[in-house]
Amino acid sequence: MITTNPFAQLNAQSPDIFTPGVMQTYIVLMILFVIAGTLFDVWHKKSAKYFSMNTEKGKKNAKREVNSAERKDMMVKTVTSEVLTSSEFSNPKRRLSHLLTMYGFIIFVATTAIMIFAYPTIADGTPAILPLLWHLGALMLCGGGYWFWFAIRVDVAAEGKPWYKIAPRADMFILSLLATCTFALLWSFTSGMGIFLILFVASATFLFSTVIWSKFAHMFFKPAAAFEKRVIQADGSNEGLPGDFDLSSKEVHEKFPDIPTYMGDTPADMGPGIRREPARHY
Ligand code: HEM
Repeated sequence: MITTNPFAQLNAQSPDIFTPGVMQTYIVLMILFVIAGTLFDVWHKKSAKYFSMNTEKGKKNAKREVNSAERKDMMVKTVTSEVLTSSEFSNPKRRLSHLLTMYGFIIFVATTAIMIFAYPTIADGTPAILPLLWHLGALMLCGGGYWFWFAIRVDVAAEGKPWYKIAPRADMFILSLLATCTFALLWSFTSGMGIFLILFVASATFLFSTVIWSKFAHMFFKPAAAFEKRVIQADGSNEGLPGDFDLSSKEVHEKFPDIPTYMGDTPADMGPGIRREPARHY
């Protein structure tokens, strides 16, 4: 079952409705939804304008210039660290859950498109690896996503809210991701049961058509923000925030001679502060 292309099977079950053309048009429509939603988001929230204003402000406050070789290096590091390994998450469980969700989604979407465009009918002879990866991608997303939903997200883990309490705008992305992959799997495992197909298509359409309101577009914006963060830390502008001072350093004591007045001659290491223990006191 997991080595059967569910879209070719769908075409075999209803050849007049689910023609290759209909399925391919649906994919193109979803891509257009994502492009239009992201562009509208950039225009409506003026995020591109804010981003370039912030970059200009950073340049003015920069303590040194970051050259193009350094920028290239930072770009590579952003891709290999923040993008490919979700390194922005310091909570290892959240990082692993994000990796499962992200790679699951990429594998699921890519294999859906390949199967629908290259092997839309049974006669095309889909290589078994494609449906296998499609099921694996959906399972990975469900694993990472349900873990996040029931145990990791801040509402449940820190604020003590029950898992079924929904904030529609904030949760529409994760919930429509989960619904899409859950119904896709149920549809495939029940050999094409109609109700699961309807729910699968409805949730996928919701996921891709609500980019303007959901967190979908973060997958395009976050890499740019992560790169910018590296630049502002390297050029010293740091968004106007104070530096990270080491209270045991002689230079820091010379720069701020009143430290002993408030903290004694040998100030204690205050530790990671907010990260000292998980927030569970609401
Ligand atoms: C296929 C691509 C991706 C998927 C499916 C995905 C999925 C998710 C999900 C489900 C959340 C939790 C949202 C919530 O709070 O409801 C999230 C948050 C987050 N993602 Fe991704 N993500 C993807 C790509 C990326 C990329 C490329 C980056 C960074 C370079 C990234 C960085 C983040 C960060 C920093 C958060 C936490 C902050 C926030 O909630 O805005 N994600 N992602």
